[in-house]
Amino acid sequence: MDLSDQEFFLFREFIRRTAGISIRDNKKYLISQRLEPVVHGRGCQSFGGLYQMMKSDSSGELKDEIITAVTTNETSFFRDTHPFHTFKHHILPQLIDNGRRRNDRFEGSNKLIKIWSAGASTGQEPYSIAILIHEFLENAVRRNISPNNFAILATDISSKIIAGAEKGFYDESQIKRGLLDGYVRKYFQKEGMFWKVRDDIRSMVRFKQLNLTESFKLIGAFNVIFCRNVLIYFDDATKSRIVDQFYDILCDNGFLILGSTESLYGISEKFESGLLDQTIVYQKRRPLPDNA
Ligand SMILES: C[S@@+](CC[C@H](N)C(=O)[O-])C[C@H]1O[C@@H](n2cnc3c(N)ncnc32)[C@H](O)[C@@H]1O
Repeated sequence: MDLSDQEFFLFREFIRRTAGISIRDNKKYLISQRLEPVVHGRGCQSFGGLYQMMKSDSSGELKDEIITAVTTNETSFFRDTHPFHTFKHHILPQLIDNGRRRNDRFEGSNKLIKIWSAGASTGQEPYSIAILIHEFLENAVRRNISPNNFAILATDISSKIIAGAEKGFYDESQIKRGLLDGYVRKYFQKEGMFWKVRDDIRSMVRFKQLNLTESFKLIGAFNVIFCRNVLIYFDDATKSRIVDQFYDILCDNGFLILGSTESLYGISEKFESGLLDQTIVYQKRRPLPDNA
């Protein structure tokens, strides 16, 4: 099926306006490849027909389906390994020590440490974080701290992807990518052809549809924001707007972690970067003293 230049421009503009994702001229084949199943699935005769159907779909379902089809959802458990190592061995102890110094009450269900996985895709990233918190609390004497004191929010632009992530089912190939056998045995249960994340791990994560190109200042404050392998799809102006909002909702002394090929160079001067263990982390730049 042929995607005309005009149809390509229409979809490209829709994707840019809706998701902030910029698509280069040479990516026409990709849009064609990813949208063709949607054209067939919806019983349309052409890409133009799909576009017209999308415009008259007031439910928003078809728009979501198109965005889901064109976005790249590549992910895996403990992707890149080192950010998770840094999180467990450096960031978590620091956040807990800071809390103790402030006399935070780590008890009951007080959600004192808040972590956001922004662009969580099919859920491997937030579940990896939940597993590590579990391991961290289990392997050390952390009196009075429990998983209930942590809140993990996982968001993605695609309602369909995020609804699937919330169910916590993974097939054999997804399980084989990044998970130690010991973690599979401990944190997953086999259900038919799939592996299901243990309920107590699942209940540590709250899933929500959220478009990063819209305002998200009201979602609350976070101690750690993971936004890995998401900003790469946006142009610099969109990246800056998103990162400005991260700045507003990140707690002082909080951490922003990007993907290993991403950086804030030329995007924001509000953060300073540092190497923590092997991971580049971003923290809010401290204001210069008055006499500087
Ligand atoms: C490549 S995956 C990254 C998943 C995970 N963070 C990781 O590093 O493994 C990128 C995700 O960003 C999501 N995404 C793309 N545009 C978005 C937007 N405007 N708002 C929120 N999420 C978006 C996609 O749906 C996709 O699931």
